[in-house]
Amino acid sequence: DASDIEKGTYPHFMLKEIDEQPFVIRNIIQKYQNEDGSVRLDDDIREAMKGSDRIYIIAAGTSYHAGLVGKQLIEKIAQRPVEVHIASEFLYNMPLLSENPLFIFISQSGETADLRGVLVEVKKRGHKALTVTNVPGSTLSREADFTLHTYAGPEIAVASTKAYTAQMAVFTLLAVDTAKAKGVNLDFDPLQELAIVANAMETLTDQKEQLEQVARDYLTITRNCFFIGRAVDFYVGLEGALKLKEISYIQAEGFAGGELKHGTIALIEDGTPVIALATQKHVNLSIRGNVKEVAARGANTCIISMEGMEEEDDAFVLPAVHEFLTPLVAVIPMQLISYYAALHRDCDVDKPRNLAKSVTVE
Ligand code: G6P
Repeated sequence: DASDIEKGTYPHFMLKEIDEQPFVIRNIIQKYQNEDGSVRLDDDIREAMKGSDRIYIIAAGTSYHAGLVGKQLIEKIAQRPVEVHIASEFLYNMPLLSENPLFIFISQSGETADLRGVLVEVKKRGHKALTVTNVPGSTLSREADFTLHTYAGPEIAVASTKAYTAQMAVFTLLAVDTAKAKGVNLDFDPLQELAIVANAMETLTDQKEQLEQVARDYLTITRNCFFIGRAVDFYVGLEGALKLKEISYIQAEGFAGGELKHGTIALIEDGTPVIALATQKHVNLSIRGNVKEVAARGANTCIISMEGMEEEDDAFVLPAVHEFLTPLVAVIPMQLISYYAALHRDCDVDKPRNLAKSVTVE
């Protein structure tokens, strides 16, 4: 059938889409680059970002996790305040809005009903909206004032992979463009740093055997798994846990390293897998401290660190990238470990039970 042709030599769309990530990032660089090598976004979007006093990101699922990273990128690079909200909750727990809010809807499909509910309401109130999507022309794209295309190509597997990294890459460029418009100085070349990310992704997608072994070592016989991280690694841990639970049905949760002691550590038993991310120098000691705490209670600990911060017993070491962009590479082992865990458990990787690729009901 047609889907077999599209998959090519790959056994699953998810694996194909994981492998496409370096090319997606390079494609984004090309699409948003001026001839002089600077970042190019629509003037309208630049003006909307510049004119707003606070940005409200609205999203669901994996796109929400990209939004958490997107907030950090915009606040650190462009120095604009950002809030991130789960779409389905926003209208119930609506924050007091600033004077000139700009709403950013992040959606791979551009069709998620929970987001549309918020979009309709904020448009009714006269606010501006930007949709960051993989499908220009989708409902959320048409109904917003502006669209930023993530150029990831069609994503078929229900579990989102390349759309997530593409969303974060586009947020990097949005942050850089806004910084320039606001006269904020940058001490790095974003397009060059994204090119380094693409190369690092390629290195990682070539390390499948190693990551399959991590899946075997930690996830063959377990009913749960915890992901811990601090700072931006916390957000990647949330996405790692979502990937794993979606396709392998292992009960997986992501936690902030510092929150462990406030509850979760009670769940640690002999052999409980705990995957810890350590890509951020400023929290390296603290997250490794958390790993020791859970190891002392019997956890089967797996540290994924980054070149320059690695220690002898780390299970996996990521190639170094700019500290703001570590989520784009740190998520790849999460995706591949989840893929192999699901495969070893005979799960339907591309079409997990009870889930839909795009959820058009509230
Ligand atoms: C569904 C999918 C998820 C996705 C979420 C948001 O639940 O199964 O993978 O992250 O919707 O989708 P969107 O298209 O709005 O990014």
